[in-house]
Amino acid sequence: MRIAGRATRTLWTHADGTVEILDQTRLPHEVATVRLESAAAACHAIRSMQVRGAPLIGATAAYGLCLALRADPSDAALARAATELAATRPTAVNLRWALERLSAHVAPLPPPARVAAAYACAAALCDEEVERCRAIGEHGLPLLARSARRPVQVLTHCNAGWLATVDWGTALAPVYRAHAAGVPVHVWVGETRPRNQGLLTAWELGEEGVPYTLIADNAAGHLLARGQVDLCLVGTDRTTARGDVANKIGTYLVALAARAAGVPFYVAAPGPSIDWSLDDGRAIPIEERDADEVRVLHGRAADGRPASLALAPAGTPVANPAFDVTPAELVTAFVTERGVAAPAELGRLFAETT
Ligand code: MRU
Repeated sequence: MRIAGRATRTLWTHADGTVEILDQTRLPHEVATVRLESAAAACHAIRSMQVRGAPLIGATAAYGLCLALRADPSDAALARAATELAATRPTAVNLRWALERLSAHVAPLPPPARVAAAYACAAALCDEEVERCRAIGEHGLPLLARSARRPVQVLTHCNAGWLATVDWGTALAPVYRAHAAGVPVHVWVGETRPRNQGLLTAWELGEEGVPYTLIADNAAGHLLARGQVDLCLVGTDRTTARGDVANKIGTYLVALAARAAGVPFYVAAPGPSIDWSLDDGRAIPIEERDADEVRVLHGRAADGRPASLALAPAGTPVANPAFDVTPAELVTAFVTERGVAAPAELGRLFAETT
């Protein structure tokens, strides 16, 4: 997708093996990048949310293993880096998927052959990720195009756009595809407290010229009840075999409001975001993040300089679960790279992987 009109991915490599990422903690106010030179830097980037979004976390972790092997291609270094990267964020299953895939690819090789093989595997993983997202866009397009209203009104939560992936996005891929196809589309963007990933969604939609309106999370139910939304479209960090969906905190409330209003609730789910080993979404580990994410706001002061604002006094007791689980019963259908399927049909689409 584009920044200031220039095609960009969310991460890329250099000839010396270092990995450059867009630093998402600086967006939407500033476009800045960071060079990752070690597995520890990759761990920090994932944990601090310089990179975020399930598919991008997986891609960064894959390159984290490459960086570890570049320093030391031994079995011990590979195992240590995989353990450290896996511990960075517990909910998105793409992290485990990417680490397992890359480890399985390089582990049988003699250590001197591992570095080149690891980088080739990580690059392939990223290219496949982009292709999956592009296909999600194709399969999701009819859901938007068939809406009677123009512009079709889409409500999304968090950021499941290209910033959350390598390119295209998951939930936003059908939006970008519709926009490119000339289907007028407008997106209601939930702010997504406390980390405000909705600001990232607003920024990337703006860069692509897609009309959007930023809303406080609490406005979603009102808009749904008033008939101002044609469909909800969100991403997922981990979907179980039966179709329970872990996604950014607040997704469940949107799904409940959508059901009450009779509005379809779609989940864009690439294959690596589906955890076939789990059935019940209540078994998904939910990340609990730092209390200051709720107590303290970060943004820009009137003079444009970075500024923080304490909303609540230090020490205020806080709960900060980063994700919630929407039960399959509230999901109208999944939009995957293989097509659109109701929760009960998801396994059929991915028959050979289940
Ligand atoms: O905590 P984050 O910003 O990593 O959470 C991201 C989300 O919840 C996204 O909706 C999800 O990863 C799907 S991204 C294509």
